[in-house]
Amino acid sequence: MKIYLDNAATTPLDPEVLNVMVPMMQKQFGNPSSIHAYGREVKAAIEAARKTVARLIHASPSEIFFTSGGTEANNMAIRCTLRDLGIKHAITSPLEHHAVLHTLEEMEKEGKIRLSFVKVDSKGTIDLAHLEELLASNERSLVSLMHANNELGNLLPLKKVSEVCQKYNAIFHTDTVQTMGHYTFNVQEVPVHFLTCAAHKFHGPKGVGFLYINSDIKIHPFIFGGAQERNMRGGTENVYGIIGLAKAMEIAHAHMEEHQQYVKGLKDYMVEKLKEHIHGIEFNGDTLGHSLYTVLNVSFPPGDLGETILFNLDIAGIACSGGSACSSGSNVGSHVLTAIGTSPDRPAVRFSFSKFNTKEEIDYAVEKLKELFSVKV
Ligand SMILES: Cc1ncc(COP(=O)(O)O)c(C=O)c1O
Repeated sequence: MKIYLDNAATTPLDPEVLNVMVPMMQKQFGNPSSIHAYGREVKAAIEAARKTVARLIHASPSEIFFTSGGTEANNMAIRCTLRDLGIKHAITSPLEHHAVLHTLEEMEKEGKIRLSFVKVDSKGTIDLAHLEELLASNERSLVSLMHANNELGNLLPLKKVSEVCQKYNAIFHTDTVQTMGHYTFNVQEVPVHFLTCAAHKFHGPKGVGFLYINSDIKIHPFIFGGAQERNMRGGTENVYGIIGLAKAMEIAHAHMEEHQQYVKGLKDYMVEKLKEHIHGIEFNGDTLGHSLYTVLNVSFPPGDLGETILFNLDIAGIACSGGSACSSGSNVGSHVLTAIGTSPDRPAVRFSFSKFNTKEEIDYAVEKLKELFSVKV
């Protein structure tokens, strides 16, 4: 039996997405920048994909820029804002993905910005009063806070953060890599300056994503080169990836409520089964509160098993990921679990679900965990 419970790392490609990509790979090889018919038909496909994406998040097609994925989109938003808009102070949290955290830390090291961290509590909830204090006591800032945490699943109250950013005239970037394709976005109702996306998190292909840039923002390219993406991102487009991304977005939106309910059902089921069968289990983050329905982060009781738990699960055919808090003196481990004060003695595992998982798979995983913990602890 092989069970994939690591959907926050990446998701399997939806066969329907593959069905639109393959015929295009077979027949349409033109370079979208070519002015002849081969190029023009590929260019038209890219622009249709841009329209689809824009429509789904209530943006204008001119606000969508295709990238190589979430990392590039986050780098572009942050680096270009701080380079081009005269902003010298950024506010983020210690729980951000490294695509954000390392980018900001690097800019601070380069002496280009000052960086402030908003406080988080032991559940990983962002202290909004502290965010407001930081905004009030500093010059105009860039705020970069992720919509859902990839390790814990915690969700940011986007509307509230958007409002406080508007109040202080801050630039608001939110890393939506874990939530795009899982929730609806309406940039007219909840204004943000930047949103980011990676198609592989919702059954699209890897190596492609987009950056939404609000039309009020005027920045220069991050990657210089040709005139692709309206002069904003040089390089021949990942045509098949872009077509696949748009198809994956369409499928995700067409079935969103149904998938949300189904996947949340799996997560809730696993929570109940784990509570029932593993004594001393703890849930990390705001799991039972404002939390992404695809992610469940669990700390197992301390014992001999330690970090070998992932290895043991892998042997049993169960793929998931982990990373406990860093123990003192070591910098390996999860910066997120460390920041919320999770005990480094308790092995932590992230289970993450998709529409392709079943209750039977959850039963099997819990059964294996029961076996592991009844023998070793
Ligand atoms: C929250 C978050 N941001 C950014 C990324 C980076 O995305 P990509 O690997 O597509 O560059 C990830 C991927 O794990 C993520 O979970």
